[in-house]
Amino acid sequence: MLKVIAPLAVAAASVAAETIAQINGNTFLSPLRNQNVTGVVGLVTAKNNQGVFLRSTEPDEDPTTSEGLFVFGGTLRNNVQVGDIISIDGRVEEYRSNNLHGYLTELTGPRNLQVISSNNTVTPLVIGVDTPSPPTELFSSLDEGGVFGAPNAVNLISTSNPELDPTTYGLDFWESLVGELVTIKDAYQIGRPNQFGDTWVRGDWKVTGVNSQGGVTMLGSDANPETILIGSPLDGSRNPSDTKMGDYLGDITGTVYNAFGFYRILPTTRLTPLVNSTTDFPPVSFESRGTCRGITVASYNARNLEPRSPHMPGVAEQIVTKMLSPDIICLQEVQDDSGEANDGVVTANLTLTTLVGLIEELSGVVYDFTEIAGLDNQDGGAPGGNIRVAYLYRPDVVELYQPNLGGPLDVNEVLEGANGEGPVLKFNPGRIEPSADAWANSRKPLAAMWKTVKGTGKLFFTVNVHFTSKGGSSTLHGDPRPPINNGIEKRNDQATITADFIAQILALDPAARMILSGDMNEFVGVAPISTLLSRSGLLDLEDVVGIQPAERYTYLFDNNCQALDHMFISPSLSRGALYEHLHLNTWQNYNNQVSDHDMSVARLNMCGCVSKL
Ligand SMILES: *[C@@H]1O[C@H](CO)[C@@H](O)[C@H](O)[C@H]1NC(C)=O
Ligand SMILES: *[C@@H]1O[C@H](CO)[C@@H](O)[C@H](O)[C@H]1NC(C)=O
Ligand SMILES: *[C@@H]1O[C@H](CO)[C@@H](O)[C@H](O)[C@H]1NC(C)=O
Ligand SMILES: *[C@@H]1O[C@H](CO)[C@@H](O)[C@H](O)[C@H]1NC(C)=O
Repeated sequence: MLKVIAPLAVAAASVAAETIAQINGNTFLSPLRNQNVTGVVGLVTAKNNQGVFLRSTEPDEDPTTSEGLFVFGGTLRNNVQVGDIISIDGRVEEYRSNNLHGYLTELTGPRNLQVISSNNTVTPLVIGVDTPSPPTELFSSLDEGGVFGAPNAVNLISTSNPELDPTTYGLDFWESLVGELVTIKDAYQIGRPNQFGDTWVRGDWKVTGVNSQGGVTMLGSDANPETILIGSPLDGSRNPSDTKMGDYLGDITGTVYNAFGFYRILPTTRLTPLVNSTTDFPPVSFESRGTCRGITVASYNARNLEPRSPHMPGVAEQIVTKMLSPDIICLQEVQDDSGEANDGVVTANLTLTTLVGLIEELSGVVYDFTEIAGLDNQDGGAPGGNIRVAYLYRPDVVELYQPNLGGPLDVNEVLEGANGEGPVLKFNPGRIEPSADAWANSRKPLAAMWKTVKGTGKLFFTVNVHFTSKGGSSTLHGDPRPPINNGIEKRNDQATITADFIAQILALDPAARMILSGDMNEFVGVAPISTLLSRSGLLDLEDVVGIQPAERYTYLFDNNCQALDHMFISPSLSRGALYEHLHLNTWQNYNNQVSDHDMSVARLNMCGCVSKL
C-alpha cells in the first residue's frame, strides 16, 4: 500500500540503502550498530520533541524484524510531517540511560533528508490483530529458572543478543515492534501512574491474572509480559496523575519505544479515563468472636508511621472501619517518636500511643501495644526513623503470657515451660537472633506468646517480621536475566533463622498454635519463602483458606499486583481458618492511598486440641 517512492530518491540512495528491517535485524541489538547508513526510506508515522518515528515502505515478511525506527535528532522533526515518505542518512546506535536497562535501536544524526511524497495514509498496527498477541508468561529465553530464577543475572541480553521469538517471549515481542505505530484496543489501567505519569495497561488481548479490581496479579513465576507501560505523550502533554487501577481508557495509539528500563508505548496524546473505577472496597467479612473460638490477627505495613504522619488518621480509620478492630495487629514500619529526625530517639511509645488514641476516639476500642526499640540506626529503613515491627492488641481479648520484655540485643529462646504448658519464650516479647549478620541493618523479628483472656486461657505464639527489601533490583524488562532480585541472599538467611526458631516450638509441641506474619518482601515460590515454609513446618494461610490466585496480592509494583505480605500458620490452626486481603491501598490513586501495602486479616480458632498431630 505504501510503495510510492519517487525514482529520483531511489537513484540517490541506491548504492548503500538499508531497509529499516535490516537496521533492526532479528535480534535485540542492531547488526549495523555504530555504522553509517544511507538512503533509509520510511513513512513518518509520528513525531515528538526528540525525533521522528518511521515505518518501512518495503517491509520484509519476517515477523522478528521490526519495520519501525526512531530517528533521534533535533531538527528533522521540523522539516517533516506525519504522512511524509522520506529518505535519510544517519548512524545506527543503541541507546540506554543506565547499564541495567535494555537498549533502544535508533538512527541518530539524520542528514540528507529527501521528502519523497506527502499526505500518505498512516494506519497504526492493531496489537493482537495486525500483530500476534503478546506472550502471557515468559519474558526472555535467557531467564534460566524463570523470571525469578536464582542465581540472578547469569545472562545479559546485550551480550547474548538472542534471535527474537516474539510468539514465546514478551521482551522479544515488544522488541519486534520497536519504533512501530500501534493501537491498543480497549485498554484498562492496571495501576497508578508513577511520578512521571507513566501508566501500565492491559489491552483486549489474552491477559492472565486479571483481578477483581481490574489489575493484573502475578501468578507464581508468571509476571505478565503481556502488560505494557504507557509513557510520555508524543504531543508534549502529560498523563494524568490522579488515575488508578481499573480505570477504562478506551483505545490508545502510540509508538513502541524502550526507555528507563521498560518497553513502553508513547501515546499520541495524554491518557483520559472514559470510565473511572469506583472507589470503595468493603471491610473484612468477619469479626472477632472475642474468645478462643475466633481470634482475629491482622498484618499491616503502615508505611513509615510516626506521630506526625499525615496518614496516621487514615491508618486508624482503616483499622476500625475496614479491619474491624482485630484482636492482634502485627504492624511493620513503625518509626520512632521523632520520625526521621536523626536525633538518637529510638522509642516508639508516642507513635503507638497516638495510633491507639485515634482508634479509641473513633470506636471506643482500647488497644495496648508491645515492641522492642532497637539500637539507633541499626535496623535499616530511613536514617533516624528506626523502623521496627510492633504489636497492637486488645487487652479485653488477649494478653501477653508471662510478659518479660527483652532488650534490643537479648536473644529470644524457646524453653520448656515449667508448668507443663509446653514451649514458652525466654523473652516475651523478644527478638530472634538480633545480632546475627542476617539482620544487620534490617528490622529484627519479634516473637511473642499470648493467652486468650476469656474462658480457659489458650496459649499461642506470633512472630512478626519485616524482611529486607528488594530495593535496587533490576526491572522485569532490563538487561540482566533473570532480573536482579536484590537482597535475596539476605532474605534467605532471614527466612532460615525465622523458620528454625519456629521449628523449635513445633518440635516441642507439634500442636502449638503459631502465626508468622508480616512483610516478607518476597513472593511465595521464591527461595526465601519456600525455604521458610518447608523448614518451619508452617502452612500458607492463602492456601489453607483457598484465596483465589488472582486475589493473592498486597502490593502494586510496576505492572504487577503481588504478594509481599504473608501469614503462615501451624497446622493446628488450619481448621475453620478465615483470611482476607483488603485491597484498600493498592487500588487507589496516590492521594487516596493510606499506606503502600494492603492489610490482611485472619480469624483463627485457638480452642482446638489437635489430637491427631
Ligand atoms: C559516519 O558519519 C559521520 C558523520 O557524517 C562521520 O563523521 C563519520 O566519519 C562516518 N563514519 C564512517 C565509519 O564512515
Ligand atoms: C497535503 O494535504 C493538505 C491538506 O489536505 C494540503 O493542503 C497539501 O497541499 C497537501 N500536500 C501535498 C504535498 O499534497
Ligand atoms: C475520572 O476521575 C478523574 C479524576 O478524579 C476526573 O477528573 C474525571 O472527570 C473522571 N472521569 C469520568 C469519566 O468520570
Ligand atoms: C515507653 O518506652 C519505655 C522505654 O522503652 C518503656 O520502658 C515504657 O514501658 C514504654 N511505655 C509504654 C506505655 O509502653
